[in-house]
Amino acid sequence: MSVIEVEGLVKRFGQFTAVGGISFQVEQGEIFGLLGPNGAGKTTTIRCLLTLIPPTAGTAKIAGFDVFKHQQQVREVSGYVPQDVSVDGDLTGYENLLFYAKLFRIPGVVRKERIKDVIRFMELTDKANELARNYSGGMMRRLEIAQVLINRPRILFLDEPSIGLDPAAKRVVWDYINRLRNEFGATILLTTHDMNEADQLCDHIAIMNGGKIAVTGSPSELKAGLGGDIITIVSSDSNCRQVLEQLGYRLMPRSQDSACDLVVDDGERKIPEIIDKLRSHGIGTLSVSLKVGTLDDVFLKYAGKRIGEGDLTFRTTRAVRRTARRHG
Ligand SMILES: Nc1ncnc2c1ncn2[C@@H]1O[C@H](COP(=O)(O)OP(=O)(O)OP(=O)(O)O)[C@@H](O)[C@H]1O
Ligand SMILES: [Mg+2]
Repeated sequence: MSVIEVEGLVKRFGQFTAVGGISFQVEQGEIFGLLGPNGAGKTTTIRCLLTLIPPTAGTAKIAGFDVFKHQQQVREVSGYVPQDVSVDGDLTGYENLLFYAKLFRIPGVVRKERIKDVIRFMELTDKANELARNYSGGMMRRLEIAQVLINRPRILFLDEPSIGLDPAAKRVVWDYINRLRNEFGATILLTTHDMNEADQLCDHIAIMNGGKIAVTGSPSELKAGLGGDIITIVSSDSNCRQVLEQLGYRLMPRSQDSACDLVVDDGERKIPEIIDKLRSHGIGTLSVSLKVGTLDDVFLKYAGKRIGEGDLTFRTTRAVRRTARRHG
């Protein structure tokens, strides 16, 4: 069942079209990634889906609720971790969570229990009574996720959940995102500039550029669409290329005789088989290397540039401020 259904969504700011008629669906329990460079329209799309700004045209439904007609219901089933910092540094982790629990009108009798649950889930117990401004970037992001979990949303919108985090802290956040899906069946829409993150986390992705979706698919489908991996074999035997051709492998044209580039599916698994076959024809190999097609290459193919080129990836470092009004 589609939990997020977007059809022909348009958002204009005056004359400027930030989102130019996009369509996609996200299924129940899926992690879906919206990828794209700065200004692609990712945050604007999320803000439309959360009823924070009205779309100019198109339709969108969240858990079956229309974003035009059922704004209250859309907000009730959704949780939003915005791109900017949404933690108050002058409050402790616990106090930030209490603030959100009140904002969400969680009844007093269950409030404490709910807060304890999310603190435990995001593993912030040790730091719950420390001022949030002393948290590391990764802990801060976990606290932000904890804030929206208080309301037990079925659908989570995470705008660049790992921005500014080091690789280890990113992996920690990815683990929590996976657990949210696996343990609670949450449906998650996230945005990222990090192709590796999308590859590791997402079941499906849409690559946005200039307000349009350039391509959608699972990471493996998109990578397979590149035409395969490239295995480079270097041999001192001048017959190597000829034998590989006889064996039916697809070879890229190459000037150097000693190196052969083969285009194959699932390159990692093919390497032993190729070496064995060459050996049985009396051909030894000096080196073998593999270049696996990445989502970066997919992005390059559809957007005409690499995703990092000319991009700024930053988070508001005015840090820690209250964004309650936006959640209200
Ligand atoms: N309120 C607004 N008024 C005018 N233009 C806006 C407004 N909000 C966004 N835009 C413009 O819409 C375009 C898309 O912005 P958006 O924030 O959705 O991009 P994004 O994909 O989230 O980028 P980033 O990766 O930098 O977060 C940008 O050109 C931006 O300047
Ligand atoms: Mg954004």
